[in-house]
Amino acid sequence: MERARRRFEERVCLVTGGTSGIGKATATLFGLEGARVSVVGHDEEDGRHALDDLRSQGIEAIYANADVADEHEAQAAIVRTLDEWGRIDVLVNNAAMMTFAPVVDLPTADWDRVLAVNLRGAFLFSKFAVPRMSPGSSIVNVSSVHAHETTVGVAPYAASKAGLEALTRALSRELVDHGIRVNSIAPGSVDTPMLWENPNVKSGKEKVEGAIGKPEDIAAAILFLASDEARFINGTTLVADGGRLDIL
Ligand SMILES: NC(=O)c1ccc[n+]([C@@H]2O[C@H](COP(=O)([O-])OP(=O)(O)OC[C@H]3O[C@@H](n4cnc5c(N)ncnc54)[C@H](O)[C@@H]3O)[C@@H](O)[C@H]2O)c1
Repeated sequence: MERARRRFEERVCLVTGGTSGIGKATATLFGLEGARVSVVGHDEEDGRHALDDLRSQGIEAIYANADVADEHEAQAAIVRTLDEWGRIDVLVNNAAMMTFAPVVDLPTADWDRVLAVNLRGAFLFSKFAVPRMSPGSSIVNVSSVHAHETTVGVAPYAASKAGLEALTRALSRELVDHGIRVNSIAPGSVDTPMLWENPNVKSGKEKVEGAIGKPEDIAAAILFLASDEARFINGTTLVADGGRLDIL
């Protein structure tokens, strides 16, 4: 019997922050849909584990070590991917970090670092990948519901995600003539270490009960946004939060 054609066969997908959580689930799903996957992370050991896991599922994958906020390391990760696979069809800007302090107590260096990882990182990977992306390619930026509604102590995170959604809109306009779509996804609470290590969640200041998604739920939405089925969706943000923002 002929095997059904997988949706991302012959394509190359680069996922930043791809060694854990939503990024790893995304790399896995693209891989299972036939893509060759480039996983970018900033911890070599995590990278080795992620590669073992992906390859054990028959997925063709490489790991590129980079601090996404570093211009040279970001560029090197793109070059490594192109050297290996010759193309990039899907870029998922997923790497991110949080800090937990009110603005008045927040060291300025922490503000700069969160903005650099969460927003500058997406700018850098887009800047270096886009010139090598063909019409039909797509970028998906992983934002957060914190871009829309937020809580105390996470101002740089909320600001970085709101900025990421603005970058999404702006870049989508620039790339219309290139045939490259750019969208964001704004997850609600997702069962990853980032959620459970959040002191606001631990203390109950940020309520998450009732709507906790799995990394695979977000991966499925990212895959949809990057797929040809989403060809008429551009410059927008898909909220994937199990309806959390609708709760009064
Ligand atoms: N878990 C949630 O509830 C939730 C909700 C909304 C949005 N998000 C977003 O989802 C994305 C993935 O988060 P996650 O929940 O899977 O958590 P995670 O901590 O598992 O993933 C974040 C990844 O980014 C990587 N990373 C951090 N700084 C980096 C740097 N400087 N260079 C390279 N890689 C770096 C980490 O190593 C990690 O692999 C993030 O953008 C996060 O903001 C998560």
